[in-house]
Formats: sequence, structure tokens, C-alpha cells
Amino acid sequence: MPRNRLLQDLRGKAGAITVMTERVDDEFLAAAGQGLVIVANFGVGYDHIDVPACTRRGVMVSNTPDVLTEATADLTWALLLATARRVGEGERFLRSRAAWVWEPDFMLGMDVYGKVLGVVGFGRIGRAVARRARGFGMTILYHARARATAEVERDLGAGYRELDDLLAEADFVTLHTDLSLETRHLIDADRLARMKRTAVLVNASRGPVVDEAALVDALRGGRILAAGLDVFEQEPEIDPELLQLENAVITPHVGSATVEARLAMALLAAENLIAALEGRRPPTIINPEVWERRQSQ
Ligand code: 8YV
Repeated sequence: MPRNRLLQDLRGKAGAITVMTERVDDEFLAAAGQGLVIVANFGVGYDHIDVPACTRRGVMVSNTPDVLTEATADLTWALLLATARRVGEGERFLRSRAAWVWEPDFMLGMDVYGKVLGVVGFGRIGRAVARRARGFGMTILYHARARATAEVERDLGAGYRELDDLLAEADFVTLHTDLSLETRHLIDADRLARMKRTAVLVNASRGPVVDEAALVDALRGGRILAAGLDVFEQEPEIDPELLQLENAVITPHVGSATVEARLAMALLAAENLIAALEGRRPPTIINPEVWERRQSQ
């Protein structure tokens, strides 16, 4: 829906279901007016929503955690494997009808099995990615704002590292943080320089977590081996230089794009919305203080 039309249609509404391409800011909230009770986001990440502004205005905000965790972890692995084994490049090669002669060193990739995986951001999705790594006989390292419990570390066989140590040790670095002021450009030129030259970076979180220009430089200069990216700094724009790089595997933000996950996301967003409109607590509310405030009024 074009922004103007959306702002117009929002007037007087009690609830809105939003997607990540729609900014929920003061303009949005003002357009809806006093009657807005809930913004139910269709997605787990909500960096496009000004949650403090919603809270100030007494608007509840919900998201759709859990239901997309496994789908997003699967896509992360698709990128990781495709990058290590040059799947995109192989596809492009065959489709170009270039002369193809088998040779022992033709299109060599890199083993995944038995390597070191570094998971940055160890929430639901990061852990689901780590769980899959056990089947690949990998050593699992993780970095997160808060260290996981000893029990979680033991269950997943994951060892905590400071970010710079993780970057230096990992063969595959995969990003699963949210996007915030602290995580914007978390992976910049300095951090890329800390990674092994043979390392692969995978990002299925949010584009701005990586300094994309620095990443393009690192990929072009062979500073790291390759990158698998589902997210970009200026979606839906893609850096034209990135499009030229054979050692980048890119997908159009499809982490949660399975029939099962999207259906479950839609149902959970609707459940949150209906609960709020019926005066019940939305099951996955992000700003519960608004709910509590409304209850005591
Ligand atoms: C969605 C996502 O495609 O949940 C997220 O944070 O990035 C994706 O699952 C998107 O949020 C749709 O609104």
C-alpha cells in the first residue's frame, strides 16, 4: 500500500498488522489517532517500529517469535552450504552454457564438516543454527550480549568467546543479532580484517549489521573467502558491486519464506491483534507495560 494511502486509511483504526517495509513512527501513529490499540508485526524483527513512541502513546506492539526460527535457521544453512560449495557460481556456469570439462581442481569449495562455526547473537535463531551444526561435526563458538547458561552451553556444545576472538577462530561466522544502535555496523572493516582469509560470513539477520561497502572491499580483495547474504543495507537496493562478485551468494530476504512459517506468522499476528481488541493480553507483546497500564485504568 502506498504510504499516503496507508496513512489515510489508518485514520480511526484500532489495530494494524505491519510488515518490515513499513515504518511505524510518529507520523504513522499520528495518522491512526487516539483509538489505535495495537500494532501487530508480521515478523520477529521490529527495528522498523519506534517502540518507545508506541509505548508513549499507549499502543501495544507485538511480533512473531518462535514460529519462524527453524525456517530462518534452515535458510542460514542453505546460504552457508551454497557459499562453501559455490552452488550459485556452479548454477550460473552451467546456465551460461560455457564449455564444461571435468577437472580435479574444477570449482573447488571448502569442507563444512568438522570446521569451526561462530554464531554471533545467540537467541532463538542463533541457537537453532548451532543445533544443526552438531550434525556437521562442527566446533561451535558463540558471542552474545549476555552469556548463555552453562546448561545451554552444554546442551548445544557451544563455547562463549569475545567477538574479536570468535572472528579470529571461526571458519564460518553467522550473524543472528537484532538491529539496534549497538549492532549497526557491528561487522565493519576492522572486524572483517580479524577474520581468517579462508572464512565465510553469513548474514540472515539485518543488512545494516554489516558495513556492506567494507564487506564488498573484503570480498573483492580476497580478505575473506566468501559471503552468504539474505539481507542488505538498503533493501530492496543491492550494491551493484556485490552483484558482480562470484564469491557472494545472495537471496532476497527469504529467511522466513516457507509456507509453514509464513502461515504461522500470519496466524500469530492475527491472534495478537484480536487479543488486544478483545481486551486480552497479546501472547507475544513486546511492550507489556502498555498492557499493564491499560489494565489499571
Ligand atoms: C520477514 C524478518 O520477512 O521476521 C523478520 O524479522 O525479517 C522476516 O521474517 C519480515 O519481517 C516481514 O515483515
